[in-house]
Amino acid sequence: MSELTVPVIAVDGPGGAGKGTITQMLARELGWHLLDSGALYRLTALAATRKGVSLDDEAGLVAVAASLDVAFEPGVEGEPVRVLLDGADVTREIRTESCGNNASLVAVMQPVRDALLQRQRDFQKSPGLVADGRDMGTVVFPEAPVKIFLTASAEERARRRFNQLKDAGADVTMQDLLDEIRARDERDMNRAAAPLKPADDAQVIDSTGLSIKEVFDRCMAVAGQA
Ligand code: C5P
Repeated sequence: MSELTVPVIAVDGPGGAGKGTITQMLARELGWHLLDSGALYRLTALAATRKGVSLDDEAGLVAVAASLDVAFEPGVEGEPVRVLLDGADVTREIRTESCGNNASLVAVMQPVRDALLQRQRDFQKSPGLVADGRDMGTVVFPEAPVKIFLTASAEERARRRFNQLKDAGADVTMQDLLDEIRARDERDMNRAAAPLKPADDAQVIDSTGLSIKEVFDRCMAVAGQA
């Protein structure tokens, strides 16, 4: 089956807007594959740190990205997808704030993005793909028949993250999280390489004040219109 005949739902937007939860729900509901492209940038940053490659060494980072040994194993019902790097489970490790920030530093570099491009496109397999990221609808899958840009106010995203981290026992303040979210948004939206922005043909959904179920229903409605 050619790539073009396999449908893609591209879901882009800033960190903390609920893309991870929603894309997992969509993939499960439809029985489609899932691409968490942010995890690939996080894994590149983590693998580089482990190998002693500096986060400003572009050539070194490209080599790390090109040779990433990663696997995504579906989680059992209600559990997140398990992420393996060199065969070891790094599911929790890649979710830390520092790994997310490091990911956004390496993601600024076009050659690093190029090194991860085909790996992302290879996820496009029958019967369909739900793709989560920043440039799914603009760069990686520009032909996707369904494009959603899921956003939420920075305050709401910081509040959600704060609640998650507090539940996990972490010692963080709302203000620190809000500052980090704003800095990451700024970097993602203003970089030259694949900046975060809605594709021209994307439907924008603002999840501020909506429940997960409401956001999911809106996304399913958008998917059904295509
Ligand atoms: O979505 P997540 O928070 O896991 O992404 C981590 C970082 O990776 C983002 O802040 C962004 O800089 C980068 N990223 C990207 N393009 C994607 C997915 C993530 O640049 N498609």
